[in-house]
Amino acid sequence: MNVDSLTYAGNPDNLSTVHARFAGSRFFFERGDICDRLHIESIFKTYEIDTVVHFAAESHVDRSILAPEAFVRTNVLGTFVLLDVARCSWKGRDDVLFHHVSTDEVFGSLGNSGKFLETAPYNPRSPYSASKASSDHLAKAYDYTYGLPITLSNCSNNYGPYQFPEKFIPLMILNMLEGKPLPVYGDGKNIRDWLYVGDHNAAVWLIMQKSKSGECYNIGGENECENISVLNKLIEIVAERSRKKVPELRSLISYVRDRPGHDRRYAINCDKIKNRLGWRQSVSFDEGLQATVDWYLANPAWIARVRSGEYLKWIDANYGARS
Ligand code: DAU
Repeated sequence: MNVDSLTYAGNPDNLSTVHARFAGSRFFFERGDICDRLHIESIFKTYEIDTVVHFAAESHVDRSILAPEAFVRTNVLGTFVLLDVARCSWKGRDDVLFHHVSTDEVFGSLGNSGKFLETAPYNPRSPYSASKASSDHLAKAYDYTYGLPITLSNCSNNYGPYQFPEKFIPLMILNMLEGKPLPVYGDGKNIRDWLYVGDHNAAVWLIMQKSKSGECYNIGGENECENISVLNKLIEIVAERSRKKVPELRSLISYVRDRPGHDRRYAINCDKIKNRLGWRQSVSFDEGLQATVDWYLANPAWIARVRSGEYLKWIDANYGARS
C-alpha cells in the first residue's frame, strides 16, 4: 500500500513497472498527504495496515532554506500523524512495526576525522535536518512512552536511478548532457558519504525483518568523497559514454556562492547494522556512478517529462488534485 502526496518530486512513472505487474493484487496506491489524519485513518482501516515504512518527507536542504514551512509541516506534523494513527489503530499490539527513515544530517557536521555512531548527540543545523531530528525524537518518544514498536534508520546521501534532478549527482549528469553550467557550492570540498539507493532499501528491509523494536541503525555507503571529486568522476563517465569530451565538460564547472550553513563533512559508522544484521553494501561507488549515468542516458523520456513539469499536470489529471 503506497501512500504518496505526489508533490513536485513524487512521480508515478517511477513505479510503473510495479504497477503493471502487481496493481490490484500486491500493490495499491493512494494519493494522500500524511498530515491528513482522516485519510490516513481510513487507509489503516481499509487495508488493515500492520507495518509502516515511513519514507515520506520534504528532503532537499536548499528548499528548506528558502521555504522551511513545508518541512515542518510534512516532516514534523506528518510524522506525528502517522505515529499517532498507528498508536490508536494498533492499541498495544506487538505484531506490528513502524520503521522511520531518517538522515545522518540530524547529527550535524564533522571535522576532518571521526564518524557518526548511532549514539552521536543530535545537532541539526538546517531547517531540513531540524525537522528530521524532530521526527526522530517523536518516533523514539512513541516507543518509550506508548511502547509502539519502532525501528529507526539514519542514512547518508542516496544516489542512483530515478532520483529527482535537484540532488547533486542527477543534477550534474543532466546539466552535462544539456551543456549547462555545473554549479559547485563554495570550494567544492564538502564531503558526503554516498550510498547506492538499492543498498539503502536492502538495509531498511533487513531491519524490518530482523531487528528487535526500539533499535536505531546507521546506514552508510562508506564512500566519503569531496563534491568536486564526485563531479570529476561523473565527468569521466559521461565523457566515456557520450560524444562529450572531458575538457568541454570541465569547462562547465562553475563555483558559486556557498549554501548558507553548509555542513562540511558527513561520514557514517555503520558497523552496527553490519555486525548485528549482516548487511553489506553490494555496489562500489564507481559501479554505482556508472549504473546511474547509464540509467539517465537510457531514459531521455523520463528526463524530458520531469524537466518539463508536464508530469505534474498529468498527476493531477490522473490522481485528482491535492486537497
Ligand atoms: O546526508 C543525507 C542527506 O543527503 C539527505 O538527508 C537529504 O535529504 C539529501 O538531500 C542529501 O542532502 P545534501 O544537502 O547533502 O544533498 P545535495 O544533493 O543537495 O548536495 C550534496 C552536496 O553537493 C552538498 O555538499 C551540497 C553540494 N551541492 C549541491 C547542489 C544541489 C553543490 O555543490 N551544488 C549543487 O547544485
